[in-house]
Amino acid sequence: MAGRIPQEFIDDLVSRVDIVEVINRRVPLKKKGREYSACCPFHDEKTPSFYVSPSKQFYHCFGCGAHGTALGFLMDYEHLDFVEAVESLAGQLGVEVPREAATLHLNGAHPHSASQATESTESGPPSKALYAVMERAALWFRQQLAPPAGQVAIDYLKGRGLSGEVAKTFGIGYAPPGWDGLLNALGDVPKAQLIATGLVIEKEENGKVYDRFRERVMFPIRDRRGRVIAFGGRVLGDGTPKYLNSPETPIFHKGRELYGLHEARMALRDLPRLLVVEGYMDVVALAQFDIRYAVATLGTATTTEHLDRLFRMVDEVVFCFDGDRAGRKAAWRALENGLEQMRDGRQVRFMFLPEGEDPDSLVRQIGRAGFEARIADAPPMSEFLINQLREQVDLSSLEGGARMVELAKPLLERLPQGAYRVMLQARLAEITRLDLRQVVQLLGKGPAPLRHNQVPPRARGPVRLTRTPLRDAIALLLQQPQLAPLAGGAVRFAGIEEPGMGLLRELLDLLEGRPHLTTAALLEHWRESEHARALYQLAELEVVPIDGEEAPDLERQFTDTLATLERQQRQRRLEQLSRIPFRRLSAQEREEYSRLLQQRGEN
Ligand code: UTP
Ligand code: MN
Repeated sequence: MAGRIPQEFIDDLVSRVDIVEVINRRVPLKKKGREYSACCPFHDEKTPSFYVSPSKQFYHCFGCGAHGTALGFLMDYEHLDFVEAVESLAGQLGVEVPREAATLHLNGAHPHSASQATESTESGPPSKALYAVMERAALWFRQQLAPPAGQVAIDYLKGRGLSGEVAKTFGIGYAPPGWDGLLNALGDVPKAQLIATGLVIEKEENGKVYDRFRERVMFPIRDRRGRVIAFGGRVLGDGTPKYLNSPETPIFHKGRELYGLHEARMALRDLPRLLVVEGYMDVVALAQFDIRYAVATLGTATTTEHLDRLFRMVDEVVFCFDGDRAGRKAAWRALENGLEQMRDGRQVRFMFLPEGEDPDSLVRQIGRAGFEARIADAPPMSEFLINQLREQVDLSSLEGGARMVELAKPLLERLPQGAYRVMLQARLAEITRLDLRQVVQLLGKGPAPLRHNQVPPRARGPVRLTRTPLRDAIALLLQQPQLAPLAGGAVRFAGIEEPGMGLLRELLDLLEGRPHLTTAALLEHWRESEHARALYQLAELEVVPIDGEEAPDLERQFTDTLATLERQQRQRRLEQLSRIPFRRLSAQEREEYSRLLQQRGEN
């Protein structure tokens, strides 16, 4: 396995590249004021609503909402995955992409040395350290899947028909019984880091820690860059919970990840499609039968984020559902989430399993050829949609047809313009035996009411986010990273726990050493984090007046914002402390309290 690309390299790469140049080569841009624009390459339009900002180094389409950096643009426009896009950008600049040492170290040594693993910040251990801990844990679990102690797990896996080769491909391991096996193996790792990874649990009463995973077969969950970010652990035999999963951590967000995606990409250079199944064992069993393009959601419904990720890699996604009512309901939800993604050339199909089977059991019965024949027979989304609607109306009457078109309307409205939409309209006309022009007319009448999970298209103009000093501070830093040294370091906001505060500290930390990073580089830096979306919004927030006659006094604006933020935080802390009876405050808290009171008097 190739080693990881160092984050520093990516930060610098994104800072050096010019997004205008990158996009202009593929989609000719016209200068428009301080920005560049074109007709959006991601949806059909006649008048340009696609804008590229040279100062922020990102693009945004006000029509369809597409946005991103040069890296994101390449991923979307050329269907590259993250690593490929990094390589493409690096190629344009004529630089080599460095790799960290490979991640599999069977002798137990690890590239992330103690010095890197022990650094930590106010906002919790840095992600880099957490990845390293997870990698070491994965190695240790793998090592435990060996006789004599691991024999029971080996037998279990063999009993389920898994070969050693497939177990190795997926890095399957074993967490032995006992409360401190992993703890001891990772004895040199700071406790806070172990807790942050979710690998150990801290007892509330006495702060003692113990292993979360005991006596379970361990499935490492990797992100698309191949880093271990979580585990799923299965009991040997019966027991509850059947699967124990890592909790959400700074490096693991369940609703976004797909088990097996990394392994699929490693196994196949050209993925023919991706098959979405439910369980870990389904993915692994299919691989055992050489169907190496299955991925599993982690016990959650398929989200739009999942689909987005899948369609970055392939044009065809096949969902595997149970054949029962619940399965049809899940399929309908996947359909609703998928409509917006149906750009031309993309295909979603729904495969329904026989009652009582899952892909694991089915492939064992009918083998690879049989299973792939079923995939080939799976109805496309359009057919499923039509059939579901057809069940709700009486097509023998003329009103039935009109009613069906009406039901289809809110769904079709979510489809991007293009061949797929046209095809569905034609199909509707055919089925309802209405005139196609009539159908198009019926469908085109006014916008349907918004549904709960439908995002309204954003109007041209500044983002409407409630302004707070914290958001302003982050937005200013994002948009004008060179201001960072004025902040006086992240310590200034140490100890304050509030959503977003950790992010501000991380930003300050990062920029302290590297103030040359651009807005786009910062956005990319947090690409995989829970903050990614918020950061984009903040990068677009008009905190910096752009139309003023005079250049805005950014330094002043920034330092003022931080001062306000600090005052606000002190006030909150003061209120917090004053709610606690004085006698119950610790000596330290009393000191803090009187200091805060004094500072309030000074302001
Ligand atoms: P299933 O209960 O269908 O299990 O859960 P399975 O995949 O068929 O597993 P085997 O064949 O009995 O080993 C499907 C998925 O739901 C999540 C897991 O991701 C699992 O793979 N799940 C299920 C949990 O997270 N926890 C559970 O206790 C059960
Ligand atoms: Mn199963």
